[in-house]
Amino acid sequence: MTEPPSRVCVLGSVNVDTTYRVPQIPALGETVLAVQRTVAPGGKGANQAVAAANMGSRVTFIGCTGSDPEAELAIASLVRHDVDVSQLRAVTDAPTGTAVLIVDERGENVIVVDAGANQRLDPALVSAHLSSTSYDVVLAQLEINLDAVVSAATSRGSAAFILNPAPMKADHGTFRDLLAQTDVLVPNRPELARLAGRPLPTDQDALDRCVGQLEFGGVVVVTLGSAGVAVYERGPARRPTLIEAVRVESVDTTGAGDTFCGVLGHFMAQHGDVTRAACQANEMAALSTTVYGAQVPAGLFTSSGPRPASAAPDRLT
Ligand code: RIB
Repeated sequence: MTEPPSRVCVLGSVNVDTTYRVPQIPALGETVLAVQRTVAPGGKGANQAVAAANMGSRVTFIGCTGSDPEAELAIASLVRHDVDVSQLRAVTDAPTGTAVLIVDERGENVIVVDAGANQRLDPALVSAHLSSTSYDVVLAQLEINLDAVVSAATSRGSAAFILNPAPMKADHGTFRDLLAQTDVLVPNRPELARLAGRPLPTDQDALDRCVGQLEFGGVVVVTLGSAGVAVYERGPARRPTLIEAVRVESVDTTGAGDTFCGVLGHFMAQHGDVTRAACQANEMAALSTTVYGAQVPAGLFTSSGPRPASAAPDRLT
C-alpha cells in the first residue's frame, strides 16, 4: 500500500529575485560589470515550499504578496510545483517582495531583500488556518513579520515546528518566546553566532559553545556549507553528529539553505528521524547548487545524487 503524502505547511516570504552574475563580488566602493542578469522566483519561504513539494510532500504555503506582475511570476512558480496557494494573500498597498542577488564565479552570493508585502502577513489568519488544518510539519523563516511566525508556532497543533532563523537580526533574547515553541532550529553559522551573541565559530568547540549559549532545549541542525552539517539532538550530552559535505561542481549556492530546510521538513514529516532527514537534506542541498536559481526543477531531485566526501574538514570556513 502506498503511504499518504506527508503534509507540510510553509509560512514565509515570496520574492522575485534579480540575479547579477559577476566575476567577483565587488569590494566596498567598487563597480563591476555583470556577465548575465536573470529575473526568477525566489524568497526563502517559497524556495523551501518548492523543495518540500519536489520531494513529494503535500505543501501549503502561507504568505503575502502585492497585487502586481511580480506576484504573478512568483505564484506561477509555486503552482507549477504543485504547492497549494489557497493561503497566499495579496495586499494592494505594498509591493511583492524583491531581492537583488550578486553571484560570483564560485557560485557564492550576497543578497539584499526588500521585504514589501512579506511583512504584512496577518497573524490572525495564520492561527485561524493552522487551528483548523492539521500538518505533520510547519516550517518558517524570519523574512516575514515576527508576529506571524509566533502565531504559527503557537497554533501548529501536533505538527513539529521547524524554524530557519534567516535572516537573523538580533540575539536570542528577542526570540525567547519563539524558541520556546520551536522543535527544530536550523541556523547557518552566522545566524547561530548572531543568535548566541558570540563570534563566528570557526572550530568544533566554538560551535558547541554557541549551541550551548542558546539555552534551547530542542534539536539544533547547523548548516556549515562546505563543512557539512552538525546535528545536536535533544538530551543532556549535546555532542553533535557531523554529516560530511557532499562534493559537487557548484555553480550557484543561492537557495541551498532553503533546499536543505524544505527537504528536511519533508523527511521530518515522513519519518521524524532528524539526523537521517538532515543527511537526506544535505545531499539534496548540494545537488541544488549544480544548477542556477533558488528554486530548482523537480526533476533534479529524482536523480540518485552524489555520494558524501570522505572527510569533513577541521575548520568550518
Ligand atoms: O535564500 C535565498 C533567497 O533569499 C532568495 O531567493 C531571495 O529572495 C532571499 O529571500
